[in-house]
Amino acid sequence: MHLLSDFDLSKNDIEEILTLSEKIKANPADYGDSMKNKTLIMLFELASLRTRISFEAGMNLLGGHAIFYSVEGRGFTRSETLEDGIKNLNEYVHCIMARVLKQEAIERIGSAATIPVINGMTEVYHPCQNLADLLTIKEYKGKLEGLKIAYVGDGGCNTSNSTMIGCSSMGMDVTVLCPDYPKYSPSAEILSKIKDHSGSEITVSHDPASGVSGADVIYTDVWVSAGMEEEEKRRMEDFPPFKVDSELVSKAKPDCIVMHCLPAHRGYEITDEVMDSEQSVVFDQAGNRMHAQNGLLFWLMK
Ligand code: CP
Repeated sequence: MHLLSDFDLSKNDIEEILTLSEKIKANPADYGDSMKNKTLIMLFELASLRTRISFEAGMNLLGGHAIFYSVEGRGFTRSETLEDGIKNLNEYVHCIMARVLKQEAIERIGSAATIPVINGMTEVYHPCQNLADLLTIKEYKGKLEGLKIAYVGDGGCNTSNSTMIGCSSMGMDVTVLCPDYPKYSPSAEILSKIKDHSGSEITVSHDPASGVSGADVIYTDVWVSAGMEEEEKRRMEDFPPFKVDSELVSKAKPDCIVMHCLPAHRGYEITDEVMDSEQSVVFDQAGNRMHAQNGLLFWLMK
């Protein structure tokens, strides 16, 4: 079993992973040997703070070992194919987590691997982030089903995709609030796959003020994701109406929580005032990267 995209997980799978995550988080000592003699390799084509450290610390907490292998700016292997490189890793380690530039690459890794493969973020999906987000929402709200989440910003990016897929799988009402431009909106392909996966319809609107009405959760992310740097000037002109500030948050439910997958660009997609407010749960959310991934590692490898 691999986690190559959020579509690999059913509602029942997510429930099992979140239950394990909660148990491990509550009593880590009970799971201190669960990854004994197990090694995770972490392949990175793009820089990371949270993904790298949370997986490494998580493996350490569970009694296992993690190897960091960065290939930023060069290929995974010198002259052999990606598939041949992965067939070597099959012989040494027990799980592969890879942050790669292209979804196609993680699919190729999954095809060549005989051990579980975890998508640590591609340009299309960020499933580990969504598991941590769901765990956080459940902790703060006590449930997932029936809650409204308003995703504000770039509706076409990986975090938006994973939020739409994972949250709708769990019976949440998902609204995406993005500029009225195709590239910033959820793709028709993703929306159609979500309908097939969970039967859910995603609401897409270009009016953030009315769209956050009734929201239990407001979620935002950077306006310029990794790999989009050449679009920065245009994006900085198009996204300011979608800044999450106190005025926007005041239009949601009074107990609405505010989330961000981080890193945040304070003053752009989120103001200091909101980021540092009592409604912001961003650092608990970051902490839950490790706890949710521990549940995932246990679920995949046991
Ligand atoms: N949210 C997230 O994936 O952070 P990193 O890029 O630091 O891993």
